[in-house]
Amino acid sequence: MITVSSPGRINLIGEHIDYNDGFVLPAAIDKCINLSLKVNGHPSRCTVKSEGFSSILVADLNNLGKGTEGWHNYVLGVINEIQKLTDKLKGFDCAMRSRVPVGSGVSSSAALECGLAFGLNELFDLGLTKWELIKIGQRAEHNYVGTKCGIMDQFASVMGKKGHAMLLDCRSLDFEYIATELGDYRLLLVNTNVSHNLSTGEYNVRRAQCEKGLDILASRFNIDKTFRNVTQKMLEEAKAELGPLLFNRCSYVVEEIKRVQEAVKELKSGNLTKMGALMYQSHEGLSKKYEVSCAELDYLVELSNDEPEILGSRMMGGGFGGCTLNLIHKNAIEPFIQKAWGAYKKKFSIELSYFQTVPSQGTSIISNS
Ligand code: GLA
Repeated sequence: MITVSSPGRINLIGEHIDYNDGFVLPAAIDKCINLSLKVNGHPSRCTVKSEGFSSILVADLNNLGKGTEGWHNYVLGVINEIQKLTDKLKGFDCAMRSRVPVGSGVSSSAALECGLAFGLNELFDLGLTKWELIKIGQRAEHNYVGTKCGIMDQFASVMGKKGHAMLLDCRSLDFEYIATELGDYRLLLVNTNVSHNLSTGEYNVRRAQCEKGLDILASRFNIDKTFRNVTQKMLEEAKAELGPLLFNRCSYVVEEIKRVQEAVKELKSGNLTKMGALMYQSHEGLSKKYEVSCAELDYLVELSNDEPEILGSRMMGGGFGGCTLNLIHKNAIEPFIQKAWGAYKKKFSIELSYFQTVPSQGTSIISNS
């Protein structure tokens, strides 16, 4: 029996640009899903149970089908992708226990996909590299779940390193570990506890809009089709052709790509105030130009804006709900939460929740017997 631990992720900055050839700055977090796996001796029958769910997923490797509960398709999707690469999989039993909050923008789905892929790789000695496991997770999401996600979440879950964020160039897939030395500041996630059901559909819509905008820009300026070649000046020149919606989408992407590069410089030189200001700008762009925020997220970011001890705050992940990520002085956490809890409850009749996190180790084996 082997047990794998696979983390969720945060993203300091660089949202919705992993599928736009941008840069992202994620980190694995200290909230994980643990999966215990063993070979069961059957040629094709697999069982997967998840703590908190009474039903057990039973799958046949020769006839996977679609799942009946949300998490099933992540599991089936991963098995399906692995089977495209190898015929070494046999029957196995898996038990999972997750501490990664679902629907919070910290990618519980990537934690599950990567943990399972990692575990099966080990259990059946498949010899897949970390990058292959990352891409299996991403393709599971594309092909089985239907979200045309980028590479950031699976990358962060697998490659995470304690005390570090990772600057990933989503075009070349080169990356660099960046120490997160935050002094008296902390990373605080404040959960709106809403998850508007727009996420999958609108996510794919944003992706298609960016592609359309890029098509227009590439043919007008005769450049390679990548946002890395697009400048603000080009956007201004092509404004009429793009129309207001595509102009805003593309302009957000170009600005966010630049912001991540600036943020890394600030983080490296310990200038957290500037780093925080970039986080606020990122939120503004996501909310106004990219339109993937929601009233609850905007409200929490606005509240934090009044607090000098909060250097930065922004929505995180796909959007339309989930958490805000706050760069906050350690002494300001309790008073801010007290204030925000009451104000948020009054405005939305919803109770927010929160947790602190630290950049942590990526997917790993925690026991093998
Ligand atoms: C989701 C996707 C990622 C990324 C973020 C937004 O989490 O899975 O690939 O696009 O949204 O940055």
